[in-house]
Amino acid sequence: MKALLLVDESQDKIAIREIEKPSPKKGEVLVQVKAAALNHRDQWCRIGMYPNIQYDTVLGSDGAGVVAEIGVGVDGSWLNKEVIINPNIHWGDDEAAQSAAYHILGMPTNGTFAEYVVVHADRLSEKPAHLNFSEAAALPLGGLTAFRATFTKGHVSKGNKVLVSGIGGGVAQFAFQFALVVGAEVCVTSGSPEKLDQMIDRGATGGFNYKEEAWSKNALKTTGGFDVIIDSAGGSSMNDYLRLIKSGGRLVHYGSTTGAPKNLDMFRLFWSQASIHGSTMGSDKEFGEMVKFVSENNIKPILSSVRDFDQIIAAFDEMHAGNQMGKLVVTF
Ligand SMILES: NC(=O)c1ccc[n+]([C@@H]2O[C@H](COP(=O)([O-])OP(=O)(O)OC[C@H]3O[C@@H](n4cnc5c(N)ncnc54)[C@H](OP(=O)(O)O)[C@@H]3O)[C@@H](O)[C@H]2O)c1
Repeated sequence: MKALLLVDESQDKIAIREIEKPSPKKGEVLVQVKAAALNHRDQWCRIGMYPNIQYDTVLGSDGAGVVAEIGVGVDGSWLNKEVIINPNIHWGDDEAAQSAAYHILGMPTNGTFAEYVVVHADRLSEKPAHLNFSEAAALPLGGLTAFRATFTKGHVSKGNKVLVSGIGGGVAQFAFQFALVVGAEVCVTSGSPEKLDQMIDRGATGGFNYKEEAWSKNALKTTGGFDVIIDSAGGSSMNDYLRLIKSGGRLVHYGSTTGAPKNLDMFRLFWSQASIHGSTMGSDKEFGEMVKFVSENNIKPILSSVRDFDQIIAAFDEMHAGNQMGKLVVTF
């Protein structure tokens, strides 16, 4: 079968190779992947900025497809079902945080950038009926991360004023849609004026370009501040967020794309009574709740592009350039 491997020999660090089709063992299933989606994690792996990198691993955490084979002990009703895959492996029993054994499908376990992937049967959910395979493939990792950040950590509810940063990002567009659905007033940031315009059309109350020096001063003037800020950039923007957070508000961070802040305005942090929350992925329980929420509210992931699997390296390059608006998908 065709698969995209992380390799140590080419300049690209990723290559499509022909590898042996895997077989499901006891409790496992073989899923024929119809569509898979990129996450920034795949790009971090490609450039060696991810823990526990192992070469010759099939990358990819997000996938949707059809159950093609089942292993011993698996409920026969899964066979031929259209499914999505929960990328969590060994979250554990604690809702507060993942276990020490936790990892994510696609490194070091072989992932979804292949014609077939083997996962444990308990990783399967039925594909939401309102989504096609490309849309469904875009959902698992980004949807789960956004769900925990928005609701479990951010407690976003009706009437809240929410800022979602870097709206072109795959996770950010879910956080935006989730907050909007529950009746929050949502503003966004982006480095691209076109993306900001697009999100105003989709219901954002305001948009601010984080590349402009005075963006947070302008945002404060026009909005009066936010109850919740959901961010994955970190870096020097942290002080902008501290300027923008209302008294008692919540900053939720699920990433640090621009690294650590060089300094932090400690005065604003304590005086505003704000709290800073870290958030990573989500539990299996949250995964189930997220899929139900998306189905009940007819939410469709925003897809930046859908390419043939043979063009997957171009999708990685698009992510690296930051040109995407939403999820990058490949189909088989
Ligand atoms: N902890 C977790 O479980 C978890 C899960 C998923 C992702 N993450 C992390 O979250 C980050 C985003 O992941 P993703 O998959 O959504 O990535 P992505 O689709 O590649 O999106 C990255 C986005 O970051 C935005 N950005 C870049 N510089 C920024 C800045 N200075 N301020 C605000 N936004 C900025 C850009 O938005 P514009 O294009 O609008 O400018 C870009 O589109 C990555 O660091 C990833 O590793 C963590």
